Amino acid sequence: MTKAKVAILISGRGSNMMALLYASRLPDSPYEVVLVASNDPEAPGLPLAAAEGVPTFAHSHKGLDRVSFDAIMDAQLRAVGADYVALAGYMRILSTEFVASWEGRMLNIHPSLLPKYKGLDTHGRSIVAGDSHAGCSVHLVTAELDDGPVLGQVPVKIVPGETPDSLASRVVFAEHQLYPKVLADFVRRDTHPEWLLSKVREFALALPETEEKASHGSPGFFVSGGKFFAYFSYNHHHDGVTGLLVKTSGVEEQAMLIDRDPDLYYRPAYLGPSGWIGIRLDRGGNDWEHIADWLQKSWRLSAPKRLTKMMNIADAF
Ligand code: GAR
Repeated sequence: MTKAKVAILISGRGSNMMALLYASRLPDSPYEVVLVASNDPEAPGLPLAAAEGVPTFAHSHKGLDRVSFDAIMDAQLRAVGADYVALAGYMRILSTEFVASWEGRMLNIHPSLLPKYKGLDTHGRSIVAGDSHAGCSVHLVTAELDDGPVLGQVPVKIVPGETPDSLASRVVFAEHQLYPKVLADFVRRDTHPEWLLSKVREFALALPETEEKASHGSPGFFVSGGKFFAYFSYNHHHDGVTGLLVKTSGVEEQAMLIDRDPDLYYRPAYLGPSGWIGIRLDRGGNDWEHIADWLQKSWRLSAPKRLTKMMNIADAF
């Protein structure tokens, strides 16, 4: 299995980053850490990552507006081909542009049992409130601060005489257990057939006048009044492969694609001779924009003229 590429953003000590990094070095980890980046060139976590052979990048945010700074970070993340971003003590408010471009692929760890105590001084506030437990949460990052869907939590008992520092020193142990596990589960989800089908369905059914119908045991997508343009293939005839079958312009393009990237493309058993191509979905780290493009291309080859005519006109502008 290809490992998903994770970039980690830090601002300080980087202990969560190191927990993620060492977990990635276990034999069955579904992800690898391809970059550790920081908005603070002095962040103590940077040399630790570098010592472990992980590429690092630092650029101070000082003197830059939020959008320009985030664009610098974004360019680094794209350059290393990151599939996911893990924020680990990254003390920056993110621009809406940055959040939008990593939507659904950026996680954060926060030292409280969300939705309680968003923002700073989480431990002090939980002690003052008389809570029985503090804790930590890993969540997906959305435009609102510390507000995205929670993916996992660990509670930590607040003991008599607790101070914010004593509590923080225990919560961090819980964080180091939680984050690698949640990240690994999240990344693995990318190879689950059910989840893959839901993603394919989302993109396919977003195309005009598209419907779904099972065909020879596989979920298929067709343009109403037109033909099938995509099939979701799961272990078809026990081939052990989860893939998407779409149309190409013909067997020449099909052969060229397989030649160019034989790990990604394959010739499907029955539709192969008619120029269809199989795209592997089960390798992890799928490029969904690319898959959506294929669906659209195949849709165009199958849709009736009255529908494609409008698209061709729109393309001309
Ligand atoms: C962690 O406790 C993390 O939960 C917190 O910063 C610390 C970073 O420690 N994050 C936030 O407060 C984000 N709102 P680390 O640098 O040792 O991982």
